[in-house]
Amino acid sequence: MQTLTITRPDDWHLHLRDGEALAAVLPDTARRFARAIVMPNLRPPVTTVALAAAYRDRILAALPAGMSAPAPGRPKAGQANSMEPRSGEQSSLLREGGAGGAGHFEPLMTLYLTDNMPAAEIDAVKASGFVHAIKLYPAGATTNSDAGVSDLKKCAATLARMEKLGVPLLVHGEVTDPAVDIFDREAVFIDSVLVPLLRDFPALKVVLEHVTTSNGIDFVKDSGANVAGTLTAHHLLLNRNALLAGGIRPHNYCLPVLKRETHRQALLAAAISGSPKFFLGTDSAPHAQSAKETACGCAGCYTAHAGIELYAEAFEAVGALDKLEAFASFHGADYYGLPRNTEKITLRRDAVTVPASLDYLAGERLVPLRAGESVAWRLA
Ligand code: DOR
Ligand code: ZN
Repeated sequence: MQTLTITRPDDWHLHLRDGEALAAVLPDTARRFARAIVMPNLRPPVTTVALAAAYRDRILAALPAGMSAPAPGRPKAGQANSMEPRSGEQSSLLREGGAGGAGHFEPLMTLYLTDNMPAAEIDAVKASGFVHAIKLYPAGATTNSDAGVSDLKKCAATLARMEKLGVPLLVHGEVTDPAVDIFDREAVFIDSVLVPLLRDFPALKVVLEHVTTSNGIDFVKDSGANVAGTLTAHHLLLNRNALLAGGIRPHNYCLPVLKRETHRQALLAAAISGSPKFFLGTDSAPHAQSAKETACGCAGCYTAHAGIELYAEAFEAVGALDKLEAFASFHGADYYGLPRNTEKITLRRDAVTVPASLDYLAGERLVPLRAGESVAWRLA
């Protein structure tokens, strides 16, 4: 049986939610990934360092028993510890299969950019040691984005401070103009927002999150080393047929929406290219089954239950498993100026059936990607 041992990976784009939902989904990520960049689109959004500190505490408190919480402001990459599954947890593949990595998890916090975030907040970010980036949601672009930015010009002073202090801007790259076709919204955003943004702030660190088009890949490649992109497993594995062919499939609906096959091919080529500009970001985004299976379903795919295994599938399909480690475990840390992890995880090529649904909220189930089907890899 084939195995693959790689440095423990990090997830550079993750939705953990809060409260009961947080407790349900966090173990899936914490058992695979050493660190994760945690999205701030809660209700209300995480707009200040103080709110991020409180959210970080709630995340650490929700870690499975036996997992260590690193000291505030001191990311401890590479620290090993024991990890025991918490009793009563059964809703993920790994909960069936046992622990797959050493026992610590570091949430890397982000703030939600608004039209009126003061530039001084960026100084607080820099001083905090635990907030690592600012997230740009164009107002109305996606889940909990109504408090997002209406016009980036209003953020000029804050962006200038970010450029100066080297704080990355993480971008949901879609225009919200209803006149623009939803499949074109990323490409239009690049031309109408990102290109001017980098003209005004040429040294600003910008991560184009969940790149879904060849336009996005070209933009990242053609920009300086300050510009990078994350890629989700679902955008590497699926094209838009997975959404609409043979019936409408709400659990494959996310934003930016899946694109045509030529774009998927461009994403895969970038992922396996070895370029340090591209790294893993699952964008695992849980929504209750009832909120997905409805007349107007929420955007978001839950992938944390197989958060690294799905990437192994995608890389294996193009004969590039040897490129997975750098993409999953090195490039993101290097971009963020954080130490690489030192522990290892081992994946085994052994198919696992994904449950039809997972425990989520009281009276609500969570339908993971591939529900009822199999994933070709599992954590050893
Ligand atoms: O599909 C998505 N779900 N895209 C996003 O940008 C947000 C996310 C969520 O929070 O559910
Ligand atoms: Zn996201």
